[in-house]
Amino acid sequence: MITDSFGRVHDYLRISLTDNCNLRCFYCMPEEDYEFTASSKLMRVEEIEAIAKIFVQQGVNKIRLTGGEPLVRKDAGEIILRLSKLPVNLTLTTNATRLHQFVDVLERANVRSLNISLDTLQQEKFQIITRRDLFGRIVETINLLISRNFNVKVNMVVMKGLNDNEIIDFVEWTKETNVHVRFIEFMPFDANRWTSNKVFTLKEIIAVIENKYLIERLKDDLHDTAKKFKVTGHKGTFAIISTMSAPFCSGCNRMRLTADGKIKNCLFSKKETDLLTAFRKGEDILPLIYQNIQSKEKELGGQFTKDFEKIHAENIHNRSMISIGG
Ligand code: 5AD
Ligand code: SF4
Repeated sequence: MITDSFGRVHDYLRISLTDNCNLRCFYCMPEEDYEFTASSKLMRVEEIEAIAKIFVQQGVNKIRLTGGEPLVRKDAGEIILRLSKLPVNLTLTTNATRLHQFVDVLERANVRSLNISLDTLQQEKFQIITRRDLFGRIVETINLLISRNFNVKVNMVVMKGLNDNEIIDFVEWTKETNVHVRFIEFMPFDANRWTSNKVFTLKEIIAVIENKYLIERLKDDLHDTAKKFKVTGHKGTFAIISTMSAPFCSGCNRMRLTADGKIKNCLFSKKETDLLTAFRKGEDILPLIYQNIQSKEKELGGQFTKDFEKIHAENIHNRSMISIGG
């Protein structure tokens, strides 16, 4: 078991397959021209599989594939099928622009649950946020997946003044559709135009929803980052991920592997440990994994506290979200 100095057991690994993406969401990619990592620096299929196995031998029982956009990698299907042979719950976070091409692979790999990023239900706003015209296809794919009985969670990053006026529309979507909407508080990453006054908090989200609906709190699972709710009588549910106003670090069981093979023990960690270079040299990476997790900070990478109004984003040392993988 991989345990940190606070006794937290780490049994969940998030693997980024690439820092490339076919969308350009401003809150995820840095403003200046972003250079995607050269493919020779990315973990290859066999390396992903071998490194994942090492983690599984240490007790990892859940793996999520992330990006950038994981499905822009040509060998994404093969990676999914290979990892599906491991004794883990395998899932994926995707922007769903290419997901329609992977439905059969996901069924073969027994991936039953998917997180899809979609921050607006308005075509024009989608274009403004992502700078691409793929809204229609994403909505079609979400409907297809729900009809094929996938558990679909939709991640909506709430940004004040941009899409906070759509919270009710997203909740209304859960009325007749078995969709699970997750409202995410806007988080600061490298050069992503974050300011504290753009955060729309858990409390504010609840207030908006309660103003219109009767809501029930649902039971959370042990390591849940989301606080789950439903509107009485609705088919789907909604949840709130309150990283900024009410962090949930005490139950954290997550580790991240970046596409270039570095382990990050927290979304906000400054430190990374290069596993891939050591692995390519034939060295034992297990001590590196243990050391990295032992040095995990108690909360939020040790970079800020939940007093998020006081954060100055320029003082945070981190990668951009596109190169971490969420
Ligand atoms: N704040 C909150 N969530 C973010 N995501 C990307 N950038 C941010 C941010 N700055 C979300 C994406 C995706 C998930 C992996 O993280 O929308 O759904
Ligand atoms: Fe791509 Fe997701 Fe980042 Fe948007 S948020 S640019 S879809 S990785």
